[in-house]
Amino acid sequence: MLLEAKNLSKTFKKGDYFIKVLDNFNFEVDKGDFIAIVGPSGAGKSTLLHILGGLEKPDNGFVLLNGENIYKDEKELDNIRNQYFGFVFQFHYLLDDFTAIENVALPAMITGKKDEAFNKAKAILEKMGLINRLNHFPNELSGGEQQRVAIARALINDPLIIFADEPTGNLDKENSKIVIDEFKRLNEQGITILMVTHDEHIASQAKKILRLEKA
Ligand SMILES: Nc1ncnc2c1ncn2[C@@H]1O[C@H](COP(=O)(O)OP(=O)(O)OP(=O)(O)O)[C@@H](O)[C@H]1O
Ligand SMILES: [Mg+2]
Repeated sequence: MLLEAKNLSKTFKKGDYFIKVLDNFNFEVDKGDFIAIVGPSGAGKSTLLHILGGLEKPDNGFVLLNGENIYKDEKELDNIRNQYFGFVFQFHYLLDDFTAIENVALPAMITGKKDEAFNKAKAILEKMGLINRLNHFPNELSGGEQQRVAIARALINDPLIIFADEPTGNLDKENSKIVIDEFKRLNEQGITILMVTHDEHIASQAKKILRLEKA
């Protein structure tokens, strides 16, 4: 087992109002899984993905990566996120003032050498059919191209797991297919994928489906 959620609970407090999103939630992710997380709006899909990905601490319970509690130590958590996890969101969050290749290379420059980071970024973008877009800024790319750059950025540090929250939520059918095909290809190469989606057709292309209900 690669990733394990144990007795997770999460409640948000807004004024006097409590929203219980997760209550003693247990879940296991094996290496090589491709899991779609579906459920109604407000069911807690994003919250769960953020907790599993080390972006948001649960109130109770544990997230274990290879048996180790990822929230044990803040500094270690930063390392885990940077080395083992890749994130893709509905809105790509590319940096507007940086080109495609710069956006992809940046996360690798935190730990490695600039030249190596750029060579690797170029190789990944080439695999994703973007060799002719390396020096484009985000506003010079189509929505689908921007999302592929965001996926390339998530791949730069060879993650074990990709966490994707509505990665096709902002895309038309054609670009959604390109993105989902890319995930399938990455999954075939052994990368584990957890993907939140509203779209049943997109979800049906994952290997497993986790359905969350509204509490
Ligand atoms: N920071 C927060 N403070 C207060 N309430 C929050 C916070 N984040 C989420 N919530 C509430 O928790 C519930 C679950 O939110 P979450 O974003 O996980 O849902 P979701 O399943 O991803 O929904 P959607 O499909 O609309 O993205 C919602 O009712 C939301 O309003
Ligand atoms: Mg959400």
